Amino acid sequence: GYRAEDDYDYLFKVVLIGDSGVGKSNLLSRFTRNEFSLESKSTIGVEFATRSLNVDGKVIKAQIWDTAGQESEEKNSELGFGSYSQPELVDLDIPQFLQAFCVYADFISKKVEIFELQSGRFLSYYSRYRAITSAYYRGAVGALLVYDVTRHSTFENVERWLRELRDHTDPNIVVMLIGNKSDLRHLVAVSTEDGKSFAERESLYFMETSALEATNVDNAFAEVLTQIY
Ligand code: GTP
Ligand code: MG
Repeated sequence: GYRAEDDYDYLFKVVLIGDSGVGKSNLLSRFTRNEFSLESKSTIGVEFATRSLNVDGKVIKAQIWDTAGQESEEKNSELGFGSYSQPELVDLDIPQFLQAFCVYADFISKKVEIFELQSGRFLSYYSRYRAITSAYYRGAVGALLVYDVTRHSTFENVERWLRELRDHTDPNIVVMLIGNKSDLRHLVAVSTEDGKSFAERESLYFMETSALEATNVDNAFAEVLTQIY
């Protein structure tokens, strides 16, 4: 029968993580809008987009969160360990889709201002990197941990991302390891076998994708959503 556009049975929050430049934002835009950009800029703050899928006759709405994958050194430097400011209630005129959570990043003072909806008003507080991390992961039931098959360092950092994920999420979270940019066949620096065996060791799902060629992108998201469901 008829279903309104925003009618869904389940809403699942899925986070994208992985080093800067591995293709997280393009995986998101490919999945939610079928768009790809060769010259995309590093993500500022937090963005999210949604797409609904049918699984077993149920409508599953995925709310996918994306942020910049700063390099690990940066995380351990000044940005890494700060504290929250005194929270303050404010009235804001924010578009509907941003209502639950939004972030204003100020990279000059290296602070972010976070707005969270609490009992109809916005709680505003400033924080350094760590606080954004816990808000980013809060409530996530799925994660795509992305590396770039042409840059081995991004694969080496997967372990660190996994630790951060485990520190901030429920142990039952569904995690898929993604080797992205599989279209760059002549530049491959991480073999499929290495990706697959790491994933097996850590009990993760695994897929190689290309956001550029739209290979396996829908499959990867659909598999995560189906496993959550
Ligand atoms: P941050 O926001 O800095 O964390 O980066 P990101 O992980 O969001 O990477 P982004 O999606 O911005 O992509 C970085 C670069 O890689 C861009 O130039 C993209 O065009 C390119 N790229 C992303 N996915 C692919 C892919 O599948 N194949 C190829 N060849 N290039 C890709
Ligand atoms: Mg990005």
